[in-house]
Amino acid sequence: MRACQHTLAKAGAALVLTGLCLPTAMAACSRSALLETVDQFLEGLSIGAAAPLQNIASNFAYMENNKTINIVSGILGNVLIIDHNRTIIDLVACATYTEVISPRSAKPYVLGAQIRHRAADNAVELIDTVVSTTNDWLFNATQTLQYVRGESWGVIDAAKRDSRATIQAAADAYLDMWSNKSAIAAVPWGQPCVRLEGSVYTGKGLPDDVCTPGIPTNNTQAPNSARRYVIDETVGSVNVINVFEHLDNAADSHEFRLEGGKLRYVHTITVADSKKSYPGLGPAPSPASP
Ligand SMILES: *[C@@H]1O[C@H](CO)[C@@H](O)[C@H](O)[C@H]1NC(C)=O
Ligand SMILES: *[C@@H]1O[C@H](CO)[C@@H](O)[C@H](O)[C@H]1NC(C)=O
Ligand SMILES: *[C@@H]1O[C@H](CO)[C@@H](O)[C@H](O)[C@H]1NC(C)=O
Ligand SMILES: *[C@@H]1O[C@H](CO)[C@@H](O)[C@H](O)[C@H]1NC(C)=O
Ligand SMILES: *[C@@H]1O[C@H](CO)[C@@H](O)[C@H](O)[C@H]1NC(C)=O
Repeated sequence: MRACQHTLAKAGAALVLTGLCLPTAMAACSRSALLETVDQFLEGLSIGAAAPLQNIASNFAYMENNKTINIVSGILGNVLIIDHNRTIIDLVACATYTEVISPRSAKPYVLGAQIRHRAADNAVELIDTVVSTTNDWLFNATQTLQYVRGESWGVIDAAKRDSRATIQAAADAYLDMWSNKSAIAAVPWGQPCVRLEGSVYTGKGLPDDVCTPGIPTNNTQAPNSARRYVIDETVGSVNVINVFEHLDNAADSHEFRLEGGKLRYVHTITVADSKKSYPGLGPAPSPASP
């Protein structure tokens, strides 16, 4: 392998970086290192401590519900009984996203965690979480768990996988519906397709389920900004943590699964007050029985 050969050259008055740089040490995002950190994070949740987390970068930051806080004052300060965890892996962004459902803890939680690593040495630079509990938007962890257990988010045959671009475009079109009416037609709606909004299911687990009930009818709202992505083509999935401005700047997580280019599942975690009524919100999806 060639050594790192960038040099500083003088172009006019400015210094510019030139040359192809290949680092001397093998710099590659490691799937096993990523999964090891996920295990450590889950172990931390199980015992209520940050101590299990290893290989933390010196510039490490912890975000919870879109705020940077000290990691020990967040969800890791609680002991959780974890009934469900599912992880997607993004080797390009060197990041993971993990969905965690915990209905049986002293306080019930449903949370999503993006963990971002530095590819050079897989050190953890950011843990970015959306943590929902009782009184958050459509929250009922028991019911969320029941629906999730009926779904299949398994690996997609290599020949049938959608590209990262296709997967991300579907997520962006979906999240654009609040601010752009044309985006509705750009969403690759599938059938069957089911949305799990907090604990509320738009489908019945039947072949004719569609994802369109309750989509936004007001398309002149704020744009669901500060989107952070984790994309895993092997399972056709993307998670987006973002801000729902139209729900009092709620921290939000949307995870999508595509099959054959079409939307199959949508999971949402939204830290907004479920007792409040928000103007301009589309009709809530009607609850179906798990
Ligand atoms: C959410 O976090 C992002 C990333 O740090 C930041 O750019 C944005 O201003 C935050 N938004 C709110 C409403 O807190
Ligand atoms: C996470 O889920 C996997 C199965 O998908 C399971 O083997 C593992 O024990 C779970 N971890 C925790 C901490 O519950
Ligand atoms: C949560 O959902 C479960 C299962 O559908 C239901 O039995 C329970 O009453 C719900 N809890 C609340 C607080 O609504
Ligand atoms: C609205 O969505 C359509 C379809 O995705 C896209 O072509 C258009 O550029 C979007 N408009 C804006 C202002 O983002
Ligand atoms: C749509 O959202 C905009 C921006 O929040 C708001 O000003 C407007 O009143 C809403 N329209 C309806 C019909 O709710």
